Amino acid sequence: MDFAAQWLEAHRNAEKTFIIGAGALGIMTLDILAANRDPAPIALIDDDVSLTGQTRYGFPIFGPIDGILHRNDLPLATSRFILAIADNTVRRSLSVKHKHLLYRNAIHHRAVVSPFAEIGTGTIILPGTVIDPAVRIGSHVIINKSVSIGHHTLLSDFSQIAHGVSIGGYGRVMERAFIGLGASVLPNTTIGEGAVVGAGAVVTRTVPDYATVAGVPAKPLVKPLKEEARNEEADH
Ligand SMILES: CC(C)(COP(=O)(O)OP(=O)(O)OC[C@H]1O[C@@H](n2cnc3c(N)ncnc32)[C@H](O)[C@@H]1OP(=O)(O)O)[C@@H](O)C(=O)NCCC(=O)NCCS
Repeated sequence: MDFAAQWLEAHRNAEKTFIIGAGALGIMTLDILAANRDPAPIALIDDDVSLTGQTRYGFPIFGPIDGILHRNDLPLATSRFILAIADNTVRRSLSVKHKHLLYRNAIHHRAVVSPFAEIGTGTIILPGTVIDPAVRIGSHVIINKSVSIGHHTLLSDFSQIAHGVSIGGYGRVMERAFIGLGASVLPNTTIGEGAVVGAGAVVTRTVPDYATVAGVPAKPLVKPLKEEARNEEADH
């Protein structure tokens, strides 16, 4: 019997949790469940097959992802999954590809989440974060440590908020947007779909879809033109 078969057999009747992704976010997610004394047997799954068969803090790593998910001895009805994949677009693609799976949240017991906040499934919330009432958080959202989310804010599916971000009331963070370390978003401000807010920025107005902004106040980040592009511009 292989490593995964033995583990699955040992936990045959339990509701298990599988963390997809054994990188830094996978370990942070494992840390949340361990700190919460979550009763589920937990395993990590990763496509990096050099990790297959290893353990992290006593928890096994299986892989590759497709191989594990198609095993006959993996009981999907009693398995819950968390996508601990930091790239917002890759996380969304995996959730579409594996939409038949049952996902669950990982919310650290030291996060303060209002009973009047709504949270989807597959969302990860690290310790020290405070979520106000009337906040709506979608599915597969990642909220890092010590984040403050003001009342009536929307965090859409697959968005990601880095450590130490503050978002004022009535904010709107659209799908796959990323807000970098320590940024502040003034009340009533929208961060567009797939937009990136640089670390330390102060966002004072709407960030368009797919824009990257940085600085205080946040402005679009204009990269210096490459030499060839500059010459082409000079020719016109
Ligand atoms: C904004 C950001 C996305 C830009 O990344 P990038 O496109 O690779 O940009 P570069 O590193 O090539 O920098 C381009 C220019 O912007 C400046 N810049 C980069 N990030 C900046 C920031 N956060 N604030 C102000 N200026 C910044 C650089 O100094 C550089 O300026 P220069 O051309 O005068 O030297 C990135 O720097 C950032 O802040 N990411 C957030 C990281 C983070 O919070 N991770 C969380 C891990 S949990």
